[in-house]
Amino acid sequence: MRAIVCSPSSPDRIEFREVAEPEPSRDEAVVAVRAVSLNRGNYRRLAWAEDGWRPGYDLAGEVLHAAADGSGPAVGTRVAGLVVEGAWAERVAVPTRRLAPLPDAVSFAQAAAVPVAGLTSLVSLAHGGLLLGKQVLITGAAGGVGRFAVQLARLAGARVTAQVGRPERTAGLQELGASEVVLTLDGAEPLFDLVIESIGGPLLGQALGQLAPGGVVVSIGASSDEPTTFDSLALVRKGGARWYALTLFQELELQGAGRRELETLLALVAEGRLDPQLDIQASWRDMGSLLRALGERRVAGKAVALID
Ligand SMILES: NC(=O)c1ccc[n+]([C@@H]2O[C@H](COP(=O)([O-])OP(=O)(O)OC[C@H]3O[C@@H](n4cnc5c(N)ncnc54)[C@H](OP(=O)(O)O)[C@@H]3O)[C@@H](O)[C@H]2O)c1
Repeated sequence: MRAIVCSPSSPDRIEFREVAEPEPSRDEAVVAVRAVSLNRGNYRRLAWAEDGWRPGYDLAGEVLHAAADGSGPAVGTRVAGLVVEGAWAERVAVPTRRLAPLPDAVSFAQAAAVPVAGLTSLVSLAHGGLLLGKQVLITGAAGGVGRFAVQLARLAGARVTAQVGRPERTAGLQELGASEVVLTLDGAEPLFDLVIESIGGPLLGQALGQLAPGGVVVSIGASSDEPTTFDSLALVRKGGARWYALTLFQELELQGAGRRELETLLALVAEGRLDPQLDIQASWRDMGSLLRALGERRVAGKAVALID
């Protein structure tokens, strides 16, 4: 079968190769993949990965072989799920605890956009507890995770401040539920109960300084690649404030989350209450240009590749 693999000497460091069919464990279903999405983590790792490494977390498709332990959806079920690597392939073995059936109203392209960005937002927001009336800051809000996080925080009843890097990236965020859209935290008014932080650098330092007593910064990434300095004594004085480092696959295990949360997100999409923010859709034969768009910060939301 065909898969996209890392090829350091090829344009965009990827190429199609024939690879072995998946060999599922007893708790894995084999999915015939119809759509995959791109995540910044895929892009970043491709920059240094070795020849033959297989990128891709998110996928949507149809179950080709059900899991041998009987835990998962039946053959022919439309599903979305996530794997630690190797989703950009014609067929993929997916643990059934990270695989959810698709409502009829959700397309493969929409569904492929949901797993990593939606679940990262959901499990990060869970660290804020009950969000009704809370002040929540989402940094990098114009990106894939950011647009899910803004919508989910608003659905949970929070007052949401969305931070974006450039004026043109403010578009659409108020419609998604942000009360305020800011470029920087200079002069930011509220103290935040919860910050979902993905930029790192000076912005993370400022976010730690803007925490309310008992508040929490959940760091999910550092897209800026810049180091952070912050006033640790000021943070200590917040009393009970926390800084939490989150990686999705570990967090799914810690929270016992996966299939059920994915089902929740997909149901919200089907009901029209959560928009996956599909910005770019193309054939997986154009994966190179999709990766370049992501790297050059030209994707407002999610980029999805169709397996054709
Ligand atoms: N911990 C985890 O398990 C986990 C899971 C998913 C994602 N992540 C991380 O979370 C971050 C967001 O992921 P994503 O999929 O939403 O990425 P994305 O769609 O590419 O969005 C990233 C956002 O970060 C901003 N950004 C990108 N490069 C930047 C730079 N050099 N300096 C300042 N801002 C920059 C962009 O802001 P502009 O709007 O200004 O261009 C963009 O909107 C990434 O760092 C990713 O690796 C971590």
